[in-house]
Amino acid sequence: MSTRDTGPILDFLGITRWKPREEARPGRGETAGAKEPDASETGEGVPAPIGPAGEGDVRELDWESLAERVAACVRCPLCQGRTQTVFGSGPRHPEWFFVGEAPGAEEDRQGLPFVGRAGQLLTSMIAAMGLERANVYISNVLKCRPPGNRDPAPNEIAACRPYLERQINLLQPRVLVVLGRIAAQSLLATETPISRLRGAVHNYGPERIPLIVTYHPAYLLRNPIAKRESWRDLKLALATFGERT
Ligand code: URA
Repeated sequence: MSTRDTGPILDFLGITRWKPREEARPGRGETAGAKEPDASETGEGVPAPIGPAGEGDVRELDWESLAERVAACVRCPLCQGRTQTVFGSGPRHPEWFFVGEAPGAEEDRQGLPFVGRAGQLLTSMIAAMGLERANVYISNVLKCRPPGNRDPAPNEIAACRPYLERQINLLQPRVLVVLGRIAAQSLLATETPISRLRGAVHNYGPERIPLIVTYHPAYLLRNPIAKRESWRDLKLALATFGERT
């Protein structure tokens, strides 16, 4: 860790890296303080599930069958507005699993998690940890985009929960990094505020997979000052990973 290039950490924290003139790269855009486009509506008024759960228990599906089940899911009304489901991205045997909230507009369009502006910041968080995005698994609590990118509603989270649980169960990551209040409260089945969930190592499931909570990258885009706290969380995750290897 100490011999590692600190550049990606400075990049994540938004600290300018001064370079000799001839090396200076033009056009590093400053994204701090920007707002994600449409994460503001509330989750009220969502009707009841509209379709069957599908054949067989999700807890018994293999990876391919699980992906197919998600792609065809009609367990909640979000299926009506989606372009496509967003299952997740990453290797089949990841050491790290990052869990977000729900796809946004760009994710819905591409069918991949965290490919919008919040995704760029997540990539920078992962790089600051000395990891490569291609080597970690990334998914969300919800596999469909809530309209207007509003917060997921409780019945949507409940309908989608078995999918994420099965993903974690099949992937068996060494550490879970959970991004934001909604994902944290959902995975830990608690209403405890994120302020009290951060800074501790939780355990998930029967295997007691270490779970660390940090801020959602979209929140960090709006509140760049919180990146320093988030970096502490990510260091806790790295230390926890180190203890387990
Ligand atoms: N926000 C999320 O929580 N997940 C995504 O995939 C994109 C934005």
